[in-house]
Order: sequence, then C-alpha cells, then structure tokens
Amino acid sequence: MTQSSAFLDRYSGAMMNTFGRPRLTLVRGRGSDVWDADGVRYLDLLGGIAVNALGHAHPAIVAAVADQAATLMHTSNFFATPWQIQLGERLDALVSRGASPGARAFFTNSGTEANEAAFKVTRRTGRTRIVAMEGSFHGRTLGALALTATEKYRTPFEPLPGEVVFVPFGDADALASVLDETVAAVIIEPIQGESGVVPAPAGFLAAARELTARHGALLWLDEVQTGIGRCGAWFAHHDDGVTPDLVTVAKGLGGGFPVGACLALGAAADLLAPGDHGTTFGGNPLGARVALTVLDTIEAEGLLQNARTTGDWLASAIAGLRDPRIAGVRGRGLLRGVVLTEPLATAGVAVAQDRGFIVNAPRPDVFRLAPALTITPAELAPFVEALPGILDGASA
Ligand SMILES: Cc1ncc(COP(=O)(O)O)c(C=O)c1O
Repeated sequence: MTQSSAFLDRYSGAMMNTFGRPRLTLVRGRGSDVWDADGVRYLDLLGGIAVNALGHAHPAIVAAVADQAATLMHTSNFFATPWQIQLGERLDALVSRGASPGARAFFTNSGTEANEAAFKVTRRTGRTRIVAMEGSFHGRTLGALALTATEKYRTPFEPLPGEVVFVPFGDADALASVLDETVAAVIIEPIQGESGVVPAPAGFLAAARELTARHGALLWLDEVQTGIGRCGAWFAHHDDGVTPDLVTVAKGLGGGFPVGACLALGAAADLLAPGDHGTTFGGNPLGARVALTVLDTIEAEGLLQNARTTGDWLASAIAGLRDPRIAGVRGRGLLRGVVLTEPLATAGVAVAQDRGFIVNAPRPDVFRLAPALTITPAELAPFVEALPGILDGASA
C-alpha cells in the first residue's frame, strides 16, 4: 500500500463526507509543483482553486509568516494594528485607483464571509431585494448560498435568506426589467468561475452600473475568484471601466493564508455602524501582513503582466492544438476554462492527475486552469502537449 492510499483510507473516518474521497494526499509544494505522500510530483494548474497566487512556499510569504508569528499574531478587533490599517489603505488604493472618497475594508477569513459582510451592508440601505445572476456562485454560508444560483446547493438548505431574484447572466434587458426602487443591490461575478469560467459579455458591467445608479441600488462585484491579479488586472472589473459600490475578495489575497475582505466604496463605506458586524479572526496581524506581502510581491515581480502574457500564451497554445474535442478557451489572465465539445472533463481530471497535472472540472465539459501567477510558458508547455492524450484517456 502506498503512503497516499494509507492516508486516504483514514480520510473518511476523520472527515465529514462533504468533498467526496480525494484521489491524492499532498504533502509539499514549491513554486508550481506539489508532491504527494509517495514523492510523486504534479504540476499544479489549479493553485488551490485560484488561491496560491505566488505558488507554493514563496520565500516572501514564508518569511512574512515566520516574522509576523514571532512578532504579533492575533489581537482581536478591540485593538488596531499597523498591518490591518496598511492593508485597508493598500486595497483602497488598488480598488479605487486614487478616486475620492475611496474604499474602506471589513476583513474576513474567506470569500463566503466577505459576501456575508457585503450582504449585511446591503440590508443597511433599508431595502431588502437583491438581484443575482443565473450561474452564480458566492459561497456556502446561508447568506452567500441565498445569492448562489445552483439548485443542488440551495434546495437542501431552504429556507434561505429571502428576496433574491435571479436573472440570466449578461442579459442587461432582463436586469433592467427587475430593477426598481426596492432593490438594494445587484451582485455579479465579472467572470463566473464555478460555473465554468464564463466572462460577462462586454458592456454588461457598465450596463449594470448605469441601471443600479439609476435606481439607487448598490453594484456589488464578487471578485473572490477573479480579483488580486488573477485575470491580469488588480480587479477584473478594471477592464470594464466601472466603479462598483461593493467588491468582495478572498482566495488570492492571502496566497494560501485564509484572508478575505469586503471593500465598500464611496457612500457604501458608511452603511455599517458600530455593532452591525464583527469577527474574531478577520484582519488579524498575521493574515494582514501576509496579504500585504502578496500584494507587494505581485507588484515587485510584475505578476499582473505575467498573468496576462502567460494566460494569453496558454490560451493560444491550447487553441493551436486544433484538437476537435476542444471548442475553445474562455477567461482572462490566468483564470481559464478549456471548453470541450464532449463531457470529458470530469474523467479528464483523474487522467490528468495520473499523468502529473492538477486541474479541475467545474462543469463536465470544462477544465478550469488557475495556476500560480508566477507560472511560465515553459512550465505550462508539458501540459499543453499532454492535453490531447489526457482527452484520449478520458474517452477510453
Ligand atoms: C466568486 C466566488 N465567491 C465566493 C466564493 C466562496 O469563497 P470561500 O470558499 O473562500 O468561502 C467562491 C469560491 O469558490 C467564489 O468563486
């Protein structure tokens, strides 16, 4: 018996059965490589689902964690710390790009919590209706689940917090038809990651901005998956030239350390009052310091540019295979969906693992690629070369 399978045999005894039984036990990582318990190396093209922005064991993160843990790790939110303030200021500068009055932050430990915080902000408008998109995913806590379209995630947990209506993603006319003075907010992912890396059509975010402004509703962009450089800009919505009222982030912000944030811009930043919301761990010095380090390193290593150029290289290299089973590559930067003409992706994930590549299948006909923002074409080339064989294996 291998070390990996010995661990996996203990998995179901130790863990609630929410994720199914994994196929691999990972023990170590460096850059874009991870190793399993038997010493087998894999190229990590999923990055912990768009989380490991700097790859594994980046020396800057390792040093920040060690130094901060030896300095001050946790204080509670009864106290201010320099790191949470610096992180709030930094995220303001990045999201509002110098516009006044700028953004203020509520820090969390995850994407779903960032969305819960934003949900509470919307309630403080005095309105309760929310418009969300078909195909959306916003997290698994009950508030975030109420905004998530997927029936199989929602139905077992109903009743969910109410007054959420769903409209087709990208359909500005449908959005216009449900917007009125009772709507508190419209929530949109600039690219729907969990539903198969589906970008909003050009002009949709701008239309949503115009419509929400007209009806006094908040525009809330969930950038948990797309933000912090993943799509080649600090925030994916920067490519659309819109200024939202709420932006939620997590995943890449901590590069693997659990940190999230609800960013409220302009007047929305004043909606929550003392006592309206809270958290024990959110914004702790360790998480804030790591997030600052991630942002510094993205800047210092030119990773926005790398996400764009390497992401474009990856998309055109896959298109260049001219494999009839590949319909196209969607997404931007280093968040890409390889769309298949047949539902081969679920089986393909296992075949890819057997050949040393970690990818996932958010839909049966889509592979999602969200590797480290540090990855290079040279590292990706073996995967592109292996892809036709992976599809052969998946259809066998
Ligand atoms: C767009 C989006 N929002 C929210 C979440 C939930 O984040 P978390 O799993 O950190 O709670 C996810 C996770 O995949 C996501 O993709």
